[in-house]
Amino acid sequence: MQQSIQFDVDLINRYDKAGPRYTSYPTALEFHEGFTGDDYQQQIKLSNERGGPLSLYFHVPFCDTVCYYCACNKIITKNRQHAVPYLQNMHREIAKLGAMFDKNRVVDQLHWGGGTPTFLNFEQMQALMDVTRQHFNLRDDDGGEYSIEIDPREANEETIQQLRSLGFNRISLGVQDFDPAVQKAVNRIQTEEQTFSILAAARAAGFRSSSMDLIYGLPLQTVESFSATLDKILAVEPERLSVFNYAHLPAMFKVQRQMNEADMPSAALKLDILQMVIQRLLEEGYVYIGMDHFAKPDDELAIAQREGRLYRNFQGYSTHSECDMVGFGVTSIGRVGDAYIQNVKQLDAYDESIKEDKLPVFKGMLLNADDKLRGAIISQLMCHFELDYQRIEQEYSIVFAEYFADALQQLELMKQEGLLELSKQGIVVKPGGRLLIRNICMAFDRYSAKKKTSFSKVI
Ligand SMILES: C[S@@+](CC[C@H](N)C(=O)[O-])C[C@H]1O[C@@H](n2cnc3c(N)ncnc32)[C@H](O)[C@@H]1O
Ligand code: SF4
Repeated sequence: MQQSIQFDVDLINRYDKAGPRYTSYPTALEFHEGFTGDDYQQQIKLSNERGGPLSLYFHVPFCDTVCYYCACNKIITKNRQHAVPYLQNMHREIAKLGAMFDKNRVVDQLHWGGGTPTFLNFEQMQALMDVTRQHFNLRDDDGGEYSIEIDPREANEETIQQLRSLGFNRISLGVQDFDPAVQKAVNRIQTEEQTFSILAAARAAGFRSSSMDLIYGLPLQTVESFSATLDKILAVEPERLSVFNYAHLPAMFKVQRQMNEADMPSAALKLDILQMVIQRLLEEGYVYIGMDHFAKPDDELAIAQREGRLYRNFQGYSTHSECDMVGFGVTSIGRVGDAYIQNVKQLDAYDESIKEDKLPVFKGMLLNADDKLRGAIISQLMCHFELDYQRIEQEYSIVFAEYFADALQQLELMKQEGLLELSKQGIVVKPGGRLLIRNICMAFDRYSAKKKTSFSKVI
C-alpha cells in the first residue's frame, strides 16, 4: 500500500466533527455494568479454549504533579506511600487472574501505562514484574513487545537501565511541547536535557523503536513555536512520533479548566499547525501510520503496515494481533474471548473488590456477531486504509453490499467529495481522506449516532 497522506483543508473543515478514536469497537461508552466478574471468568474459559498468546496491560495511575491538558486516568499525589497498598492489591489481582489463564500461553505483549509508571521505585517495579512472571508465561528472549510510558521528569539514566533489565524493550516518552510559555501554561516544565538524556539512555540500553508524544492545540502554541519544538525532536530522530490533537473535554476532565480559554489556539490555527507538522514529517522521511502516529519507513510499525499486519488496540498501533488483552489495575480495559472488560475506576472500590477476593470488574460488554464484524472492518480501515469486501464476506458469511447498504450510501457521498475510492471489490481511502479516517469508520459504527458529545473533535 501507499503510505502517503494529503492535507486538504476544505475536506477537513467539512468533516471536522466529534468522533471516537476507535481503540476499540464498540467504544467504551457501550460498556455496561450488567457485565460481571462471572461473565469475565466465562470469557477467560473461552479464551483458554481458543488459546494463543496474551497481551497484558498494567495501569499505574499516580502522577506527582498534574498537567492541565491531561485526559488520562490519573491520581495526583506527592505521597509515594499511596503506591504501596495499590501494588499489594495489584499483586493479588495478578495472582487471581494468573490462576485462571492457561499458564502455557506466552505473553507476547506487555505494557505499563498511566499515570506515570515510574512513579514507582525500582524495588516496586521489580516486584511487579516478578509477580507477573510468577503467574504468567513472560518471554525471556526479548522477542515480545514489552513497553512502558515514561515521563522524562520521573526517570533518569539508571531508571532506564533498570527497566531494560526488567525486560522492557520499548519506550514512549511524554514531551508535548518544548516552548517555555506553553510548558508554563499547561503546568508541565520539562527541559530538553531531561528528555534527550532519557532517549540517549534508552538507545544505549538497547530499547528499540523509541517513540515521543507531542500535542498540538495547547495554549499559546503558534505555528512557529511548534515548528521550533519539532526542530528539536527531529534532530534526535525518534523512530516513532505521536502528534496528538489536544482532546479538550473539560466536562470530563475538570483540570483542563485551569488553562486560560483566551490562550487556546483557534480551530484555524490548529489546522495550520497540523498542516506544518504533516509537511515537515513527510519531508523528513516519516510515514503516516494513522490516527496521529508517524514512523520511520524502516520501523517495524511502518513495515507491518506495508505488509498488511498492523493492528490497533487500547495502546495504539501494534504488530501483535491475535492476543487477548488482560488489564490489571484501576480503569484498565481488557479484551478477552468475546468481551471487553473494564476495571473499577476508584482506588477504594479496587481495594474493596480485591479484599473480598473478587475480580475488580466495573463494566464490560459481550460482543455479538455484528459487533465483531463491524469491529474487524473498522480496525482494517484504521490500520490499512483499504478494505477488500471478498475477505470480509468469506470470513463473516455476509453479502457486503446487502449487509452494509446504509454505510455504502454514506460512503458514496464521501467518494464524491474525494475522501475515498469505492469499487465492486472494496474501499481505498485516498491520501486526502486519511486524516478523516474516523469519519469514514463512523459509517460502519452502529452506535455512533449516540453520545457524540463524549468525543473530542476529529482534527
Ligand atoms: C497516559 S499519558 C502518560 C505519559 C506520562 N504520564 C507522561 O506524561 O509523560 C500518554 C500521552 O497521552 C497524551 N495526552 C494526555 N492528555 C491528552 C489530551 N487531552 N489530548 C491529547 N493527548 C493527550 C500525552 O501526549 C501523553 O504523553
Ligand atoms: S500527562 Fe502524564 S504526567 Fe501529566 S498528568 Fe497526565 S498522566 Fe500525569
